[in-house]
Amino acid sequence: MRAVDFDKLRSRFHLPDDKVYLDGNSLGALPRKTEARLQEVISREWADELVSGWNTKQWIDLPLSVGDHIAPIIGAKQGTVVCCDSLSINLFKALNACLEVNEGRSLITLEDGQFPTDSYIADGLSQLLGSDRCRTQAVDIAALTPETLSESAVLLLSHVDYKSGTLRDMDAITTMAQSAGCLVIWDLAHSAGAVDMDLEASHVDFAVGCTYKFLNGGPGAPGFLYVAERHHDVQNPLPGWMGHARLFDFEAKYEAAPGIKRFLTGTQSVLALSAVSASLSVFDGLAMRDVRAQSLALTQHFINLWEQSSILQTHATLVTPTDDALRGSQVSLALDNAFPVSQALIADGVIVDFREPDIVRFGFSPLYNTFSDAERAIESLETVLSSERYLRPEFQIRSTVT
Ligand SMILES: Cc1ncc(COP(=O)(O)O)c(C=O)c1O
Repeated sequence: MRAVDFDKLRSRFHLPDDKVYLDGNSLGALPRKTEARLQEVISREWADELVSGWNTKQWIDLPLSVGDHIAPIIGAKQGTVVCCDSLSINLFKALNACLEVNEGRSLITLEDGQFPTDSYIADGLSQLLGSDRCRTQAVDIAALTPETLSESAVLLLSHVDYKSGTLRDMDAITTMAQSAGCLVIWDLAHSAGAVDMDLEASHVDFAVGCTYKFLNGGPGAPGFLYVAERHHDVQNPLPGWMGHARLFDFEAKYEAAPGIKRFLTGTQSVLALSAVSASLSVFDGLAMRDVRAQSLALTQHFINLWEQSSILQTHATLVTPTDDALRGSQVSLALDNAFPVSQALIADGVIVDFREPDIVRFGFSPLYNTFSDAERAIESLETVLSSERYLRPEFQIRSTVT
């Protein structure tokens, strides 16, 4: 078996020479192919083909063809993934579907401290449907037992926690929830493209994810939705013409298309989906276990350097688990003055981000980050802390996105 040439993979991305980019867990870097492909779609397909492009360039198929391209990366069967809308919107569809499948139950269980959009969407659905049909409860994930799920229609949780970078055991949690008669939706925002998984083998019911993080689809790129084949007859709560069985018959009555297609609602952005499609081709031929091994090696290297640094031992607490089985593809450190520290790192060319209340996240994208990126980030953090450079007024100013 040939080892993966990660230097070659890195060369497939645009990465500024003067920066260490450790925020691929927020926005993935631009693959060179994607830049070229977008240019082609604009100047050859859109410009020359105009409306014919929906047929001649198969634009109409993009949500499903891109879904099929995502499928092997997350261990899903062909025809079970659609790429459309945003993670948040797809989550709304999935939650409603779970209430339909598990119609004797009305409780959505989610984790305390989950990424906020997940609980906003669940609470919004509860308000819309009324508390008889839909209620929510937030629980401590560590205390989950089949008993706590005995009344739940669905458990919604993140595969990798966005703040701490903790990886959850998809297999064990799914089995446990299902043994209590509860369906499971996994939020793959921080794992798809960096962590190997097998949704089919883990018997997952539904999953949602983003393509703009480790899948490198571009800023605001569409989300995706996985629906296990056994649930393909449920309703889309947002039925639109793109999910109709015969969309260009313009029938007055809605009839859902068979399969995953029914989860489409309206017209999707061809430019955005074309970008995702090109970015996914960087994964072609890669085994996700090799990608995962590289991710673990990178984060382990960063953790080793943190352990060896006396200044970091004093000022920065490791929040991410050291156990490989529990670590996603980022390392989170808790620090006093975390926000200004993150800004001082960015000013020094080490691109990280900050999450409330005191977390600086160092995200490692296995396709393009290097071991020297980890070294440079640790050196920069040591300098920022020892020089107290982060106290400068310019590092206290918050923009909208942190
Ligand atoms: C864990 C998690 N869930 C959901 C979302 C929201 O995704 P979107 O804004 O694409 O709907 C994000 C965005 O970063 C996220 O990190």
